[in-house]
Formats: sequence, structure tokens, C-alpha cells
Amino acid sequence: MENGKSDSTFTGRLGFILAAAGSAVGLGNIWRFPYLAEEYGGGIFLLVYLVLVVTFGFALMLTEVSLGRRTGKSCIAAFGELSQKHRAIGWIAALVPALILPYYCVIGGWVTKYSVDYIAGSGSVVAGAGFFESFIECGLTGLMGNPMVWFIVFAVITLLVVAFGVQNGIERVSKVLLPLLLVMLIAITVYSFTIPGVVDGLKFYLYPDFSNFSMSTVLGAMGQLFFSMSLAMGIMITYGAYMKKDVPIEKSVRNISIIDTSVAFLAGLLIVPMVIVLGGGSMNSGPGLMFETLPLVFETMPGGHVIAAVFFILVFFAALTSSISIAEAVILALKDRFNLDRMKAIAVVAVITLVLGTLSCLGYGPLDSITIIGKPFLDFFDFFVNYIMMPLVAVMTCLFIGFVVKPKVIIDEVKLSGDFAWEKPYVILVKWVCPVCLILILMTGLLDLFGVFTL
Ligand code: PFF
Repeated sequence: MENGKSDSTFTGRLGFILAAAGSAVGLGNIWRFPYLAEEYGGGIFLLVYLVLVVTFGFALMLTEVSLGRRTGKSCIAAFGELSQKHRAIGWIAALVPALILPYYCVIGGWVTKYSVDYIAGSGSVVAGAGFFESFIECGLTGLMGNPMVWFIVFAVITLLVVAFGVQNGIERVSKVLLPLLLVMLIAITVYSFTIPGVVDGLKFYLYPDFSNFSMSTVLGAMGQLFFSMSLAMGIMITYGAYMKKDVPIEKSVRNISIIDTSVAFLAGLLIVPMVIVLGGGSMNSGPGLMFETLPLVFETMPGGHVIAAVFFILVFFAALTSSISIAEAVILALKDRFNLDRMKAIAVVAVITLVLGTLSCLGYGPLDSITIIGKPFLDFFDFFVNYIMMPLVAVMTCLFIGFVVKPKVIIDEVKLSGDFAWEKPYVILVKWVCPVCLILILMTGLLDLFGVFTL
């Protein structure tokens, strides 16, 4: 892709869906969704999330994909193509992946460490009490116990794939691995149903208890939606630019949403009940959830260490396809905005990732005395991106489509290659419902940022 203009396209509808799903399905589904569901009320979080996927998620993804396909350009150039005055929206959107990539690589590093430890036969050590906490707090001895090493390994793999242009190869591999991950998730989840006490856990995850509802439930679900579906960061615009003109947009968007949400739902179904079953109330929640509960589940399984190794390798590939697409988005933005050649752009991405990633990685260990609005670095970056930047980009995108260029631009593009069954609801969503709700969310996020309110 040169000057933001795409020079190749996905082959057919399936090609587009699988490529976009490869970007969408990642740590957001397997690591982030379960811990938020546990933190923000179980079943009620799930319900709110599902409602948001079919409304906001659908409207925003459809908008971005259509915008990309219509202009044939990446995010920075796409907005400018429709209105020179509003091209800044594209630049702000392009900042988001640059902020996500560093901490995504830190978590990717945790997954890499767990994969390698299980392959090396240290499964029982991984499942030991306090292992995860010691690991992220830099309390383990030796090179292999240092989270910085794993963060750098994951970041280097991501950037090498991107530098050598072998992402197509990786994507081909993940087309096989993604269904495999789904099958494994289902199998392990079915097994977990045999663990005594699981019914209470399942009830917590599946039954929407309205007394658990709070503003944080909605805000958490909304941030998760952006993150998980790779929205409000220009990614889906770029994917749209590669999409052929005869591929039906509405159907494809539905399919991507279904795949993405199914993986998140399944990961939640496996992980969330386990907190109640295994933790007996003492389990740490938050970002470490999956890394603490899953080893305990694998410990109870016959052949659990082998299954764990395969499982973490699959998660590793899901994370890698996503991190590659995040890195690509930043590189493309740097090329478009600053005219950098590809290798220089990769070098800039490497520096940003190293600096911000190091802060995130050490923020639970040697740098734990430094917090921003009471949060360690990683949590702060995650908060800032999901509660401030993405709602900001999303609201600007909706207002831009709703009132500047008008929804007809999107509607025409969708109808070019198929039906648009949800045309009327789409217009209401993009013009009114999404902007109003997004502004409320943004304001709450800002109040939190300035310490008036705590999410
Ligand atoms: N959607 C991915 C996930 O759920 O892990 C994360 C992601 C991919 C974020 C691509 C940003 C991005 F550009």
C-alpha cells in the first residue's frame, strides 16, 4: 500500500472475514474479556456487552469498513479524502494502536513465557501459589523468570514478521489455528464443568444479576468492545480498503462480530466461573486472572500439562496475528503521515514499543511506586486508550458520518455489494444513539482521569 492507496485486495468474502477476524480475535477476547466480566458483575456485564455488540459494535464496524472500501485508503488518508478539514480524526485514530502495541507485547510476553514453561515441563511450577504475581513483580530469579525478556521476545517476533513481510504466511497458519483454538476452548470448558462447585460460578457468569449493575459495567463493556473488535483505531478502515467491491459488507461485519464475540464468550465461560470454584473468594482478579485460574484447571486434568502447552501456543498465535495488525497500522500511519520508508517506520515503532512497554512491564515490579491516577503504567495505558482515546475517535467518526458527509455515503457503499437490512437502525445509531452515549462515556472517563470519580 503506497500513499494510503491499497494495491491489493482480499480474495473474496471469506478471505476478508478471516483476515479481519485474525486481527480482532486476540488477547482482548481471551485475556481482557474474562477479567472485566469478573470485575464488573458477571452475567450483567455479559448482557450489556452483547447488547452493545449488536448496536454500537455493528454500527461502528460497518462505518469503518465502508469508509475504507469507499476511499480505498488507510485511516489517515480516508478522512481527508472525504473532507480535508476533518483529516485530523484519522491522525488521532492512528495514535491508538501506537499506544496499545507496547502493553499488548507485555501481555503477549506473559503468554510466551507460559507456553515455553509448559513445553519445558515446568507446568507444576507455573501452577504454584503466587507464581504469576512473583513473575510480573520481577521476583523470579534468572533470565527466564524476567518479564522484560519475554516482553522483548514477543515484540521482536512481531516486528520481525512485519519487517520480513511474512505476515501472509502467519495469517495462513492462523486460519488453521483459530478454529483449533475455538475447539480447544470448547473442550476445556466442557471439562471444567465437571469440577465440583462449578454451578455457582456459571450462575455468576451467565445470570444477569441487576444488583451488580453500575456505570462501570457499561463503561467497561464499551471500552472492551472497541478493543476486542479493533474499532476506533483505524484498523477496520484499512481492512475495508483491501476489501473487494463485490463482498457484502453487512453480512461480513455480522460474521466478524459473531466470531469475535463467540471467542470472548467462551473464554469467559471457562475462566470466570473458575474464580469462584478455585479461588474460594481469595483469587486475585484483574489483569492476572487468566494466568492464575487456567494453570489450576490444567493441574486437575489428566495430561493437563500437554493440553496447557498446546492451549498457550494457540493463544500465542492469536495474540501474534493481532499484534502484527496493530504494528502494521502504526507503520502505515507513519508512512502516510511522515513519508517514512518502511524500515524507518519499523524502527520508530520499535523505539515507542520499547520505551512504553518497559514502563508497562516494570510498573508491577521495580517501578511500582510510580502510578498515574493511582494506576500502574500498564493499567493506565489500557485505561487511557479504552476510556478516553477510543470513545473520542468513535464519537468524532459518528458525528463526521452523521452530520458532515451524511450516512448516505456509507449506505451507498454497503448497498453496492448486497442488502442493508439494518439501514434505518444504522442511521439512528450513527447519528444519535452512539454519539450521545459516547459523549457520556467520554465525560465519565475524563472525570476519572482528573480524579473526580473512580471507575
Ligand atoms: N482486537 C484485538 C484483541 O482483541 O486482542 C486487539 C487489537 C488488534 C487491538 C488490532 C488493536 C488492533 F489494531
